[in-house]
Amino acid sequence: MRVTYVGHSTVLIETVKANLLIDPFITSNSLAGLSIQDLPKIDAILLTHGHGDHVEDTQPIAERDGSLVIAIAELATYFSWKGLRTHGMSIGGGYTFDFGRVKLTQAFHGSSVTETNNRQIVYTGMPAGLVLNLEGKTIYHAGDTALFSDMKLIGSQNKIDLAFLPIGDNFTMGPEDARIAAGWINAKKVVPMHYNTFPVIKQDGQKFAGSLGNQGLYLAPGEAFEL
Ligand code: NI
Ligand code: MN
Repeated sequence: MRVTYVGHSTVLIETVKANLLIDPFITSNSLAGLSIQDLPKIDAILLTHGHGDHVEDTQPIAERDGSLVIAIAELATYFSWKGLRTHGMSIGGGYTFDFGRVKLTQAFHGSSVTETNNRQIVYTGMPAGLVLNLEGKTIYHAGDTALFSDMKLIGSQNKIDLAFLPIGDNFTMGPEDARIAAGWINAKKVVPMHYNTFPVIKQDGQKFAGSLGNQGLYLAPGEAFEL
C-alpha cells in the first residue's frame, strides 16, 4: 500500500481495496503537499477528534466521494446530522470493515467543534488515536496527544509497522516526549506530524526523525512511503 503524508496530521492511505484519509485538514493548511482536487476518490475518512485542524475538509470530501466517516460516537453523530454517512466507535473498540480493521486508542487531548458564528464550543466526545490493520500491516496514528504510559500497551499488543506521532509541542507532545513514545510503541518506522503548521508548533521534523536512527522516517508534506 501507499501511505502519503499530506501535511499536519493528514494521512492518505491507498490500498488495493480502498482509499482512506485520516484527519483531513488541507484547505487552510498553506503547507499541505496536496490539494483536495489531487486526492483520489476517498472511501473512508477516519477522524481522531473534532478540532478544526483535523476535520476541516471532512464535509466537502465526503459529499464529493460519498465517503464513510469513521469517528468516535459523538463526532460521528455530529457529522451524521450534517448529512454524512458515518460509523461511530469508542475507545478500546475495534471493527473490521471491508478494507481492514480499525481500533480506537486513547489520546490525552480535547475534542470539540468551534462554531465561531454563535460562539459555541460543541464537545465531541473523547479524542482518540487509531490502530489500523490493512493488508497484513499495522499503522498507528496517535492523533493529538500527550505522552502516556499506556503507549507501552499499544506497543505490546500490536506489531506496528508505521506510526505517526505528533511532535509540535504546545497542543501535543513535543519532540522529547515523542522520542520516548517512539520507544514505547516500538514501531518499525516513526513519522513526525503536527508541527510547523502554526508558529507555536514550529519544530524540526528532519532532526526529530534523525534522532531516532533507523526508526525515524521523515516525510515532507506530499511525500509517500510504500508499506
Ligand atoms: Ni487537536
Ligand atoms: Mn491538532
